[in-house]
Amino acid sequence: MTTVLKPLIIGGLTLDFPVVLAALAGYSDLPYRTICRSCGAPFATTEVMIDRFLLHESKLRRHILKSDADDHPVGGQFMGSDPDLMVQAARVLRDLGFDVIDLNFACPVKKVVSRKRGGFMMTQPAAVLEIVRRVREAVPDRPLMLKLRKSFVLDDPDCAAFWEIAHGAFASGVDALCVHARAVEQQYMGKADWNFLTSVKKAFPERTIIGSGDVQNPAEALRMIAETGVDGAAAARGAIGNPWFFKQTRELAAGRPALLPTLDEQRELLLRHYELCLRQYGERKGVMTMRHLGISYARVHPHPKRVRMAFVAVKTMEDWTGVLEIHYREPGPVSVA
Ligand SMILES: Cc1cc2nc3c(=O)[nH]c(=O)nc-3n(C[C@H](O)[C@H](O)[C@H](O)COP(=O)(O)O)c2cc1C
Repeated sequence: MTTVLKPLIIGGLTLDFPVVLAALAGYSDLPYRTICRSCGAPFATTEVMIDRFLLHESKLRRHILKSDADDHPVGGQFMGSDPDLMVQAARVLRDLGFDVIDLNFACPVKKVVSRKRGGFMMTQPAAVLEIVRRVREAVPDRPLMLKLRKSFVLDDPDCAAFWEIAHGAFASGVDALCVHARAVEQQYMGKADWNFLTSVKKAFPERTIIGSGDVQNPAEALRMIAETGVDGAAAARGAIGNPWFFKQTRELAAGRPALLPTLDEQRELLLRHYELCLRQYGERKGVMTMRHLGISYARVHPHPKRVRMAFVAVKTMEDWTGVLEIHYREPGPVSVA
């Protein structure tokens, strides 16, 4: 069955397909964004950065913010609690050519929350709205979106802080909300509350709402949009190690089966990803990055356990390409003597 999907609109941007690559720390760097775009992702975002790290040159900043002419449209994401720093950080991203400014008030990592950033801000709606207002004023020429959680504590039937932030944010000119339908307290555990997404879309029928949480596979991405009415879905853990997610979702939406990539296709894409990582990180970090990514790519291999173990044992570039030679060759025709 064909699913009719609307383009996803984020301010002045119109994306031809409403399933995007989520911001993913440790994954959504330039190499992976490039790979996901080649598989049909219409939009991707950097991993979250801390506002003040955006203001000073460093190797980490260089790696996270690295982009190129083909890496568009791209969102740049950061978090913090000081409006002055947040404004400066937003200007840095704008000046570097990021197409969307994305403020993260959702990160549940303990070290982040204890320093009053990310998800902690779901307890501070007035402070969030002050940041939003200031950033909107400072960077009027870029779409602005927020990443929010439904609440801070799990047991929060009203989610009053969410609603205060959402209403205030749209009133201040925010272009889209990406709503992770879990509480901060849940981190990444438990089921995402898709009913909450339904109520958000009902409350803001004319606004862009992107849903996040439990988009585990292409069918779930389409189901989230169909059942909750959100305008788009963000593929997060479902797209780690499976950049074909986007192609598969497009196929499913067109009423065709979502085929698994062949071993040849997997090998070719892994090699391309490897080259991009070497170019970005150099040999030492490149190999370690690809070891880590190889482990996640193993999930789509017909023998995931065996291939995961092979990537875990990788120490050198030769080891890594050796895994490809051994495990990513289509079995040839069997010759009968
Ligand atoms: C490894 C990992 C890193 C993440 N990094 C970020 C991040 O940098 N910024 C962000 O907004 N969300 C981040 N998230 C949250 C995801 O974007 C997404 O909201 C969440 O995983 C829920 O979707 P899922 O249940 O489909 O995985 C991260 C999630 C994971 C698992």
